[in-house]
Amino acid sequence: MASEEVPLPEGTVRNILEQETLKWVFVGGKGGVGKTTCSSILSIVLSQVRQSVLVISTDPAHNLSDAFQQRFTKIPTLVNGFTNLYAMEVDPKVENDELPNDEGIDSFLSELTNAIPGVDEAMSFAEMLKLVQTMDYSVIVFDTAPTGHTLRLLQFPSTLEKGLEKMMSLKNKFGGLLTQATRLFGLGDEFSEDAMLGKLEGMKDVIEQVNRQFKDPDLTTFVCVCIPEFLSLYETERLVQELAKFEIDAHNIIINQVLFDEEAVDSKLLKARIKMQQKYIDQFYMLYDDFHITKLPLLPEEVCGVQALKTFSQHFLTPYKPALTRGTVKELEHRISILKSQLNEAESELERLKKGKQKA
Ligand SMILES: Nc1ncnc2c1ncn2[C@@H]1O[C@H](COP(=O)(O)OP(=O)(O)O)[C@@H](O)[C@H]1O
Ligand SMILES: [Mg+2]
Repeated sequence: MASEEVPLPEGTVRNILEQETLKWVFVGGKGGVGKTTCSSILSIVLSQVRQSVLVISTDPAHNLSDAFQQRFTKIPTLVNGFTNLYAMEVDPKVENDELPNDEGIDSFLSELTNAIPGVDEAMSFAEMLKLVQTMDYSVIVFDTAPTGHTLRLLQFPSTLEKGLEKMMSLKNKFGGLLTQATRLFGLGDEFSEDAMLGKLEGMKDVIEQVNRQFKDPDLTTFVCVCIPEFLSLYETERLVQELAKFEIDAHNIIINQVLFDEEAVDSKLLKARIKMQQKYIDQFYMLYDDFHITKLPLLPEEVCGVQALKTFSQHFLTPYKPALTRGTVKELEHRISILKSQLNEAESELERLKKGKQKA
């Protein structure tokens, strides 16, 4: 029944461009695998088909600035050379320190953070989402921090929930004592327990609303970036399972830094690595046969600056083909020349060994 056949997933990220309802695109994976490169390029190709795009880095080790070779801050800034692509870098930890008048909130937060780790981060994440939501971008790409951090970010709604419960229980336990205490320490009414509770509640609303969106596969998808190595495969599987647990859609895997062209390679080291990579690439295809798997070549140089990003973006839209196509005359000639030189090498090695033996 050929007409009923389900099309095989395509080896590109075109599906993301075609899904016009998408509002949030998360890009995640282990450190150094190419998250920032991939989220930058995804935002560039999205800007070609969508009204406006914002790319946000939530990784404390920001490098959107390096990738685009332009300084970004926590305020969305137009990327040079674009009319509808904006970038910003947010650092959850810095946010609170930067508010000079919020000492009360700060000390309160550190108290609360001791009780519920991550609540301060959750609150500034909520603040950021609130801001971004009012800005009306068609699609928002997140360059997330390495895996553990990303998963924590997705747990924020329940973290805030816990924070709220803790506040309520404290309130019930101590009655007006907390309010009296804040007065005693000379903090104004705005830092009173009720005000804080209100603030927390308000953020919880935002984060719950966003969380509903995150769990809607029409609006949100998570792109897993990895490299063809054991640890990365393992980490990707963990990530995919966690995302499923959080009910967050994922159906794209980008395998970066792939070495192609085994036949065209002379180096034994590279040959061995290509073999190793192929083993893990095969496993990726086996494990994720319903995912779009995009393979990106390892380049001799870094992917820096808009031009390099744009050039590299071609591999996101058409599957990468090694320069030499198997079976062509050119390729056969190339293989023969490699085999010849390998034969020469082996022969001279043999000669050396024979001579060594004679001497001994
Ligand atoms: N396919 C590739 N070939 C060559 N260099 C790459 C490739 N992908 C990424 N890089 C470079 O590797 C470094 C790390 O990539 P980056 O995207 O910053 O990783 P992450 O954000 O996951 O830490 C950067 O200098 C980037 O330019
Ligand atoms: Mg990065």
